[in-house]
Amino acid sequence: MSENLVINPASCHFILICIHHFNFVTYRSFNFLNQILLQFLVHYFFMGKVEGQGESWHGHVTAVTVAPEFRRQQLAKKLMHLLEDISDKIDKAYFVDLFVRASNTPAIKMYEKLGYVIYRRVLRYYSGEEDGLDMRKALSRDVEKKSIIPLKRPVTPDELEYD
Ligand SMILES: CC(C)(COP(=O)(O)OP(=O)(O)OC[C@H]1O[C@@H](n2cnc3c(N)ncnc32)[C@H](O)[C@@H]1OP(=O)(O)O)[C@@H](O)C(=O)NCCC(=O)NCCS
Repeated sequence: MSENLVINPASCHFILICIHHFNFVTYRSFNFLNQILLQFLVHYFFMGKVEGQGESWHGHVTAVTVAPEFRRQQLAKKLMHLLEDISDKIDKAYFVDLFVRASNTPAIKMYEKLGYVIYRRVLRYYSGEEDGLDMRKALSRDVEKKSIIPLKRPVTPDELEYD
């Protein structure tokens, strides 16, 4: 079992945590590994970062995947809590956010259980086809919880902030 923490010295911190059978893994192609390595080596994979300007300074869940045989053991919950703690206490972020396919009911249920709310719907976010849901959870710095007030209308991908 190993745990790797990689911090980018730029404004955006990357947190890469994996627990796997071998003390070796190369993340040259995340999507490939997400699909393939999980089947052979990795129990779960989680990647997050902290990014944004001003009151948009936030933790972002880039990816969370748990191998099928290890699901419903609170693994994803613990990884999410770890990112939330780092974002809250170390990086002093205002909120944590993530994007999830609108059809991914199990993941949406999990995020809701963990306190995330749907902040906005992003039309055709995935490959120009499926809508994405931008889900958020306010952290302690956002005292008034302004960051999670849902938008009244869906947005398109070109309206997203990419910082
Ligand atoms: C979604 C996923 C990451 C959950 O991982 P997990 O380790 O099984 O989740 P946890 O055990 O930490 O679940 C915590 C809580 O979330 C909820 N939850 C998790 N999976 C759920 C499911 N399939 N259906 C309903 N609720 C679910 C439950 O309330 C659960 O608590 P409980 O087991 O005590 O009832 C996992 O199913 C997965 O890897 N799915 C495929 C990849 C994916 O969709 N990732 C998210 C992309 S945005």
